[in-house]
Amino acid sequence: MSDATAKKEERRKFQAIRGTRDLLPPETTLWNRVEQTAHEVFATFGYGEIRPPIFEPTELFARAVGGETDIVSKEMYTFEDRPEEVEKPQVFQDFERYLRSVQELFEKSRIPQSKENEEAIKQLERTLKKASDAHAHQLFDVGMVATTFYWANAIKLGDELSLRPEATASVCRAYIEHNMQQLPQPVKLYYTGPMFRRERPQKGRYRQFYQIGAEVLGGTDAPAIDAEVIEMLMTFFDKVGLQGATLYINSIGHNADNCRRGYVAGLKAALEKVKEKLGPDSQRRIDTNPLRVLDSKLESEQVIIATLPRIADHLCDECKTHYAEVKRQLEVRGVLYQENWRLVRGLDYYMRTTFEITAPGLGSQNAVCGGGRYDGLVELLGGPPAKGIGFAIGEDRLILSLQESGKGRVPQRRDVYIAWMGERAYAAAIRAAKDLRKSGFSVELPPVEQKFGKALGQADKLGAKYALILGDNEVSEALWTLKTLATGEQAKLTEPDLLQFLRNQKPAT
Ligand code: HAM
Repeated sequence: MSDATAKKEERRKFQAIRGTRDLLPPETTLWNRVEQTAHEVFATFGYGEIRPPIFEPTELFARAVGGETDIVSKEMYTFEDRPEEVEKPQVFQDFERYLRSVQELFEKSRIPQSKENEEAIKQLERTLKKASDAHAHQLFDVGMVATTFYWANAIKLGDELSLRPEATASVCRAYIEHNMQQLPQPVKLYYTGPMFRRERPQKGRYRQFYQIGAEVLGGTDAPAIDAEVIEMLMTFFDKVGLQGATLYINSIGHNADNCRRGYVAGLKAALEKVKEKLGPDSQRRIDTNPLRVLDSKLESEQVIIATLPRIADHLCDECKTHYAEVKRQLEVRGVLYQENWRLVRGLDYYMRTTFEITAPGLGSQNAVCGGGRYDGLVELLGGPPAKGIGFAIGEDRLILSLQESGKGRVPQRRDVYIAWMGERAYAAAIRAAKDLRKSGFSVELPPVEQKFGKALGQADKLGAKYALILGDNEVSEALWTLKTLATGEQAKLTEPDLLQFLRNQKPAT
């Protein structure tokens, strides 16, 4: 390998992992603005912030989101949480030591106490004994190595954990863990942070992406709650300046024979009749999750899907009334919506109200938010019976859409560049910088002396509004020069006058 190729290789090793990316300034200012708006708007609706961990037991997501969903079955980043003192054996000679430490940990209940583990440890012990005997009689063979590795690998050293693909499950877990049912109900929580899904990366779809979500847990399932959650969401989108957002709503009823279960059976029967005309993904879903066929974006399937039975015609009376009231309440709140009978969502916990918001400028990944009602999820996770509803906004997509519509421009945040020359000027510059920063100005104070021409060039490049010029003359005259960079205007002012003049200006943010 040539030096140049080796260097290139080395550089390649340290690129951000596929589907992840660095968020950089000045764009991060926009991210902060969006998050700040969420803090403010959600607080006006009485929500408090929750910060759950970013990994949880895999089982939590499997149970909440559903083991058959794409998210859980294909997309989670899962790992074993093993005790820190165990080292996996590297060479065959390590296995005896490994077996002893695993046996000890098992006895102390420090590794999962499953029947499978008990069996695997026993088998490893037996295999190593056999190998040792075989070795003594020179009958040792590769098959024994393979069997040893097999049983050693079969021992589960810790619980399976996963990076969170979403946060609703965590919030419900926290509600149960902290006995939040004893607080005044409903409990209204929101979160911001990274989520992880091993999806095929493309514009608006990442493996590490960010959500801003909110959940309402406990209390009643009054349709006014659904409507207020959606109203809050639309207020937030309006406040951040998202243009052209469309809200789609639907009701997927509840899991009973006279409601969704009955509908799904009918849908399945209808799908069986047109099976041959469907693509392989939809054909598979007829058995695994027929509702998800309705999500299909495949062009050739659209005419077929249009003829399928619709859930609205199969809702039970309670769900029908609930849905009608949600729509009425949205109208009362002046929230515009479109109904979409095909909106079923890709997570298993939903019932009744589901909604999604799309925004322009995003190509095929145009959903900036998804949510819905999930009564019963808390109970499914081992808690008390509790109602639930919430949403999550895809922050990456929201930012993209804001940028595409020109609403994502971030003001340059450099108010004053202090061009100084000489030790005495530097001391005055440090004082001025401290004072101005205290008043909220963004101040750039170069760490080394620069010629004024270069300093002013730098100030220009940084987009500073003013340059404060401090040289020997200024210090001896006690008059500082302030240059407005956009116009080139200069004025000489005393230090107190100048600080006063700047403080009277608004900082650039
Ligand atoms: P979700 O529909 O899976 O729902 O995700 C919500 C939003 O997160 C999507 O509409 C999209 O904007 C964004 N998103 C999802 N996957 C990606 C990705 N790979 N890259 C970029 N953005 C993505 C949930 O997560 C539910 N927990 C929402 C919820 C809360 N329902 C009730 N409460």
